[in-house]
Amino acid sequence: MNIEEIRKDFPILKRKINGKQLIYFDNSATTQKPVQVINAIKNFYETYNANIHRGIHTLSQEASEMYEDAHKKVADFIGANDMQEIIFVRNTTEAINLVMYSYAMENLEKGDEILTTIMEHHSNLVPWQYVEQKKGIKLKIADIKDDGTLDLDQFKQMINEKTKIIAITHISNVLGTINDIKKIRKMKKDAILLVDGAQSVPHMLVNVKKMNCDFLIFSAHKMLGPTGIGVLYGKKELLEKMKPFLYGGDMISKVEQHKSTFAILPWKFEAGTSNIVGGIGLATAIDYLNKIGMQNVRDHEKELVKYFLEKLEDRNTIIYGPKDPEIKGGCISFNIKGFNYHDIASLLDKSGIAIRSGHHCAQPLLKRLGTTGTCRASFYIYNTKEEIDKFFDILNKIRG
Ligand code: ALA
Repeated sequence: MNIEEIRKDFPILKRKINGKQLIYFDNSATTQKPVQVINAIKNFYETYNANIHRGIHTLSQEASEMYEDAHKKVADFIGANDMQEIIFVRNTTEAINLVMYSYAMENLEKGDEILTTIMEHHSNLVPWQYVEQKKGIKLKIADIKDDGTLDLDQFKQMINEKTKIIAITHISNVLGTINDIKKIRKMKKDAILLVDGAQSVPHMLVNVKKMNCDFLIFSAHKMLGPTGIGVLYGKKELLEKMKPFLYGGDMISKVEQHKSTFAILPWKFEAGTSNIVGGIGLATAIDYLNKIGMQNVRDHEKELVKYFLEKLEDRNTIIYGPKDPEIKGGCISFNIKGFNYHDIASLLDKSGIAIRSGHHCAQPLLKRLGTTGTCRASFYIYNTKEEIDKFFDILNKIRG
C-alpha cells in the first residue's frame, strides 16, 4: 500500500482546521471520499442522470445498468451468490428495521427469544426492543468480559430452543472487539443470524458464505462511499419468503385496484425512486477498495492500532476494549483521568485533529464500562504513523 499515493486521492486531507493540517481519526463515524467516488457522482449527474426501470430511452437504460451492476459488485465483494441477495437501503439502521418489520414482527411469537450483546450500536438494539414490547418476546443481552471481548461461555448458555434470532455486531464501534461469527454460528445453526457489519465490511475481508450468516448489514459512507445508501444482504430463500418493507412504486409486478403482486428480488425491497447515484458511488468505492485489497486494508489498520496503543499506555489513561490488534478493529476508545472526553476532543480539534467523543450510540455499553462516554480514535487507509505522532504531541501535552 502506497499511503502517500492514496492520500493524494482525498482532497479533504489537504484542509487546514484552525490553521493546522487536518488529521482525520473519526473514520468509524464516516470515512472521507476519494476523487474517484466524487467524480463518479458528478459524472452520473453530468452525463447519464435518469430514473431507473422506467424508461426505454438511452439514459434510463444506462442508469439502470449501472445501478444493477452496483448490486452485482456488492454481491461479489461480500461473497453473496448473486445480486438478488443485495438490497440497497438508506443505512445500517434502516436495514435492521427492514429485518425487524419484515421478518421478526411477522415470524416471532410470544415466548420466542432474540439474543444480542451489550456491545451493540443502538441500531442493533432499539429495533429488537420494539419487538420485545410489541410481541412479548424475550430480548436477551449477553455481557462482555473485563477485557472487552464477548463472554462466549455466557453467550452459549443464553442460547436455547426458543432463540429465534441472534443479532450481533461483527466489530464493536466502541471497543473495536472483533467477534468470532463462525464460532457463534456453530453454537446455534437453526436461528436467524444477523451480523451488523457496519464496522467490519469497510475494514476487512467479510464473506457471507464463510460466516454462514442469514443477514449482513453495512453502510456505504463508512467505506469511502456516499451517505444515504446502505446494504442489506439476505439469503435468497429468506428474502423470498419475507413480506415487503415499504409499499408503492417500483416494488410491484402488477397492480390492480385492490391488490398487487410484487417485483422479483431485490426490487421487492426497493420501493420508490432509489438512491441511484448512491449505488453508483458505492460501486466506485468498492472498486477503489478492491484495488488496494482488503487484506492490505486490514494489515495497515493493525499496524496503526499497535503503534497507537503503545503510545496510549499511561497511568492516567483508561483504555477500553482488547489490546491485541489481532482481535481488534481500527478503533480505540480511551479516557484521560481528570478530563472530560468532550474537552479532550475540543482540545485536539484546536490542533486540527478530529476524533469522536461521547457515547458513540452505544449507551448501554458505556454504562457497562462505568462511564458516560469516551474519546475514540478510528483509522482508515489514508492514516499514517506520522499523524499518530502528531496526535500524541498534543495528547501528551494535555495529559502531562
Ligand atoms: N456508528 C457511527 C459511529 O460509531 C456513527 O460513530
